[in-house]
Amino acid sequence: MTDVKNFTPALGHAGLTAEYDRVVAVMTRERRWRGKLLDAIAPAPCDVIIDLGSGTGSQAVLLAARCGDARIFAVDPDPDVQVIAAAKAQDRGVKITLVTAMGGDRIDALPYGAVDKVVTSLVLHQCTLEAKQALLANAYAMLRPGGRLYVADYGVQSTLLMRILFNQVRSLDGYENTRANKDGLIPRFMEAAGFIAVRDRWSLPTPTGSITLWTGEKAGR
Ligand SMILES: C[S@@+](CC[C@H](N)C(=O)[O-])C[C@H]1O[C@@H](n2cnc3c(N)ncnc32)[C@H](O)[C@@H]1O
Repeated sequence: MTDVKNFTPALGHAGLTAEYDRVVAVMTRERRWRGKLLDAIAPAPCDVIIDLGSGTGSQAVLLAARCGDARIFAVDPDPDVQVIAAAKAQDRGVKITLVTAMGGDRIDALPYGAVDKVVTSLVLHQCTLEAKQALLANAYAMLRPGGRLYVADYGVQSTLLMRILFNQVRSLDGYENTRANKDGLIPRFMEAAGFIAVRDRWSLPTPTGSITLWTGEKAGR
């Protein structure tokens, strides 16, 4: 596995992690985009779903709450967010399996080639180019033929207001790591990783810039 310390923490600096949930709730219209993402993923009984860069577990817990018979794995390199995720799952009375790893790590505990859905939300804009590509390649390897990837993250900011607002994120998470997102390269990276039928599902303006959902499929049935 790669060095799990080589990542940007949830809110840009380790000392801010405890504030992550409060900040995201207000600064990203969280209920709105998480609900839309949940509806798009539509977890079904027997689904195996991996959340890469699961952070404080908010999306993984929503998935588990929507469908208790789906198997949800929440992967993140940061033990601090996983403590919060574990408490959140316990509070909601749902089961998620926490794995400490980078999104690009080969994870022996996961059923490679048999995963139905992979989701990654608000992660790629925090990653180096290499880490973005490694995460997407790993997602592709995990999925079964016909499996689907869901990427919710900041993309092209098409108005001046959204560009100004997205600068808040860029200053916290790094201008270099966020560049490919704002340049519209995420769908191209998904295709380069092997995904087909890559498309934008929606973009939602938020107080920190527009968040887009892209989906892609692994060919086959
Ligand atoms: C902004 S938070 C988003 C968390 C969560 N997905 C959400 O929707 O709230 C980004 C998360 O990505 C994790 N992360 C950063 N680099 C990563 C990488 N290369 N692979 C996997 N996770 C990574 C961080 O530890 C952090 O928890």
